[in-house]
Amino acid sequence: MSGFIGRVGNSCVKEKLLSALNLLQFKDDDSTGVLFCNKEGQHLYRVVGKVDELVTLIPEEVDGYMGIAHTRWSTYMHQVLENVYPLSSENGYVTLVVNGLIDNIQMIKRRLVKRGYSFRSSSAVEVVANLIEDGAVENEDPLRALHRAMQQLEGDYALLAVFNGNCKKIFFAKNGVPLIIGKNHDGMVICTDYTPIADQADEYYYPNDGELGYLTSDNMVLYDGKLKQRKPSFTEVSVSEKTLELGDYPHYMLKEIEEAPGVIRRLINNYFDGTKYRFDDRLIKRIIDAGTIVFIAAGTSYNAALVGQRYLRNFNKKVDVFIASEWIFYPYQSGEDTLYVLISQSGETADILKCLRTIRAYGADVLAITNVEISTLYQSADYRLLLHAGTEVSVASTKAYIAQITLLSLLYARLVNKITTIAALERVIEALYNIISRRDTIKAIADQIYKSGDVFFLGRGFDYDVAVEAQLKLKETSYIHAEAYQGGEMLHGPIALIEENTPVIFFISDSLTVAATREVIREMRDRKANVIVCSLAPFNHDGDSFIISNPIKGYHSPITFAVFAQYLAYYCAVNLGRDVDKPRNLTKAVKDRSV
Ligand code: G6P
Repeated sequence: MSGFIGRVGNSCVKEKLLSALNLLQFKDDDSTGVLFCNKEGQHLYRVVGKVDELVTLIPEEVDGYMGIAHTRWSTYMHQVLENVYPLSSENGYVTLVVNGLIDNIQMIKRRLVKRGYSFRSSSAVEVVANLIEDGAVENEDPLRALHRAMQQLEGDYALLAVFNGNCKKIFFAKNGVPLIIGKNHDGMVICTDYTPIADQADEYYYPNDGELGYLTSDNMVLYDGKLKQRKPSFTEVSVSEKTLELGDYPHYMLKEIEEAPGVIRRLINNYFDGTKYRFDDRLIKRIIDAGTIVFIAAGTSYNAALVGQRYLRNFNKKVDVFIASEWIFYPYQSGEDTLYVLISQSGETADILKCLRTIRAYGADVLAITNVEISTLYQSADYRLLLHAGTEVSVASTKAYIAQITLLSLLYARLVNKITTIAALERVIEALYNIISRRDTIKAIADQIYKSGDVFFLGRGFDYDVAVEAQLKLKETSYIHAEAYQGGEMLHGPIALIEENTPVIFFISDSLTVAATREVIREMRDRKANVIVCSLAPFNHDGDSFIISNPIKGYHSPITFAVFAQYLAYYCAVNLGRDVDKPRNLTKAVKDRSV
């Protein structure tokens, strides 16, 4: 994957730029570079390697009030230094970082070769840099040269450009790839992602496709695609978004698991005013009027949608749930009055955004449920609900899943006018504090299972939904192979995989299914599996491994069981020495590949 950041400020940018670059860096990124600009000129450092290695190349005395930086995983077999960004045009007129996919790059390159350009790299970014240089007219404002180049580029991209001799302006252009601009008293920052800059700005602007402009230390000058100046309106971001300090925690994942009670409290405060729910009446009417509700999501957000589906089915709605990357290819349409509910922690997952475009083409309505206000999904939806989980840094989603289920339960409660849900959620908060205080018990279970090759999670109804999330969390963070099955389905095939000591973890929260599930437990014990049972107190049996003793409703059990599963995954990963916050091959939001 790849991403970039730029900063122009009233003080030196090095520390802020590099710490943000570190957060932006994806685990498998294989190259990174930075350009500092100061009175002496431009200082470029690039490395085939990680940010840590880049830092060792930069002399202590080098800094600047302006800089741009990039990190990426290259699509080449072997990354070479010539292809590492930032890259300059042939005569050094402009230096660029770019994210995205430009479709007509080869055609442009052939044209530039005919005009006498030679290329030092095989990178598309050098082509874009030369295109800008080639179109520049002497003494012309670089903005026009950038605009001229944009008109020739086909595809989706976002870029930052620094022009030679101009160490006070970072130019930018956006078309189809996320870009966020932030400002505070100390300067302006621009990034392809929100998280790395969450603590560097108080207000944000989210450029539209086709927009371009430049940043100075205290201002942004913005133009539309026709080069007409526009007045941007910045959005203030709530303090809860700026929770990036790790404090005494060894990992963000642990910190974020333990933020769950606070997240639920924040959601109650945001969506309930003490006597009644605070949802947009238009949205409630739209849901009531919808013939079908279609949830579309990916990864953990999809697993939360499974729970949401059960809530809304109780409201007598026809509800479907689709994986985003499937729905793009098989876009099932279920009538004109369908409301599409797109759930995404980041609001930037490429598959989700593709679904959004298709739904837009249908002319149908979209409800966005996301954690990031300044995301493409949130900004483009007809109806919006914010998760208020605060920035989630750990790649494996934890508190955002809790927020997604909680918010869906609040929405359902509003639809059926059930005020008692608030008291029920207060009890969930108590239960979570209780689980947190017993985290060592979960660690002891992790100590027992972390060397296993396969782990199975079983449950029925809501317990199955949370089992699906539990297996994903374990896979993502510890790389242990894990599967989830509906309780009874274990007997129809997967049971062949059960060997002595195979961990089989059950969730039990429902009087309707407890007897049938206990039958399956007996089958597993007969095969000498390592049975671990996580149950709600009313349905517990002697010997259950973890009992949620606080009185909570069955429909809130996924919240408590999820926190159990998150701890379990966390401790297994720690025991195995995994890179907990940045598991291999994963990224926080799966975006399109880069040039
Ligand atoms: C990636 C992450 C997952 C996440 C999924 C969906 O695969 O590794 O943890 O659940 O994307 O992300 P979203 O931001 O759309 O919820």
